[in-house]
Amino acid sequence: MTVESQAVASKLSRAAIFLVATLNEGEESLDAVRAMCGDLAGFVRAVGFRDLDGGLSCIMGFGSQAWDRLFGAPRPKELHPFREINGRHHAVATPGDILFHIRARSMDLCFELAMQITARLGGAITVVDETHGFKFFDQRDMTGFVDGTENPVGRESLDAVLIGDEDSAFAGGSYVIVQKYLHDLKGWNALPVERQELIIGRKKLSDIELEASVKPSWAHNALTSITDEEGNELKIVRDNMPFGTIGKGEFGTYFIGYARSPSRIERMLENMFVGNPPGNYDHLLDFSRAVTGSLFFVPPETFLGAAGPAAQSSATAKPV
Ligand code: HEM
Repeated sequence: MTVESQAVASKLSRAAIFLVATLNEGEESLDAVRAMCGDLAGFVRAVGFRDLDGGLSCIMGFGSQAWDRLFGAPRPKELHPFREINGRHHAVATPGDILFHIRARSMDLCFELAMQITARLGGAITVVDETHGFKFFDQRDMTGFVDGTENPVGRESLDAVLIGDEDSAFAGGSYVIVQKYLHDLKGWNALPVERQELIIGRKKLSDIELEASVKPSWAHNALTSITDEEGNELKIVRDNMPFGTIGKGEFGTYFIGYARSPSRIERMLENMFVGNPPGNYDHLLDFSRAVTGSLFFVPPETFLGAAGPAAQSSATAKPV
């Protein structure tokens, strides 16, 4: 059987909604979520077809405990709850059983799909975090730096995110970590641009990487560049989004990283929050506070399609 993956390596989008939900008690909640697994592709088709250039996609991921409740054995080898880090800065672990990562060229598509999904799921889930992300000028995040440049593309991105022979029962799946960061923009913007560039490791206006001779070992892009024992780079795919609420003075970056092993992202987090070597930490965190942190497994599309009772009868969603 050919295994289809979910759209983990799809193009970065202009708009996104990140829904993190917990799974409610009761067998009927489990049934409703399993049914949604089977119906999701139909929902995306129904909403997405209304705007042919809209590029709508939705990824559904499951936390460790939710996996056991919904699907039991076998379980993906590396699925575990998000591990909090208490280093120079604190990476919190927060509740999250199900992730919907909805992307499109415009927010109307994302919003409509999120409404349809949550209406169908009704009382089966409780949304614990909802973030509406947008792309800022030149793909910049709220720090003013271009974000996403070094993402792998094409074959390299598939190789970075899709599980292969290392867990053949779940080949074509992926892992994803999300963290919602709030920035101290006043503090950040008070720094001279040259200092900000040392912290990120790239030039602010041109996005050109700093030369090795001037880039500090604590630069964000130095601490997040990791290799295996043979010196091969271990890549992840990110689709960070700025978000904010002007009236509350809340400005942030929603970090989302996909990888074929969560250990890649965890090593990057360790380098950022504890430092490499310890103490040589990421100064971006002096101005960015992680307020959520969750880890999910993203099963292949084929697994989702076969998971729900609804899928057996018809894969066509019946939007409300
Ligand atoms: C690179 C911003 C959190 C992993 C970058 C770049 C920016 C940036 C501006 C340089 C351009 C690029 O290559 O994309 C941010 C912000 C964050 C954040 C504002 C949250 C406050 C994270 C986290 C991770 C991460 C939590 C992983 C755990 C990476 C990686 C690169 C990168 C892998 C590319 C490094 C390279 O190969 O050059 N980030 N980032 N980032 N970031 Fe982050």
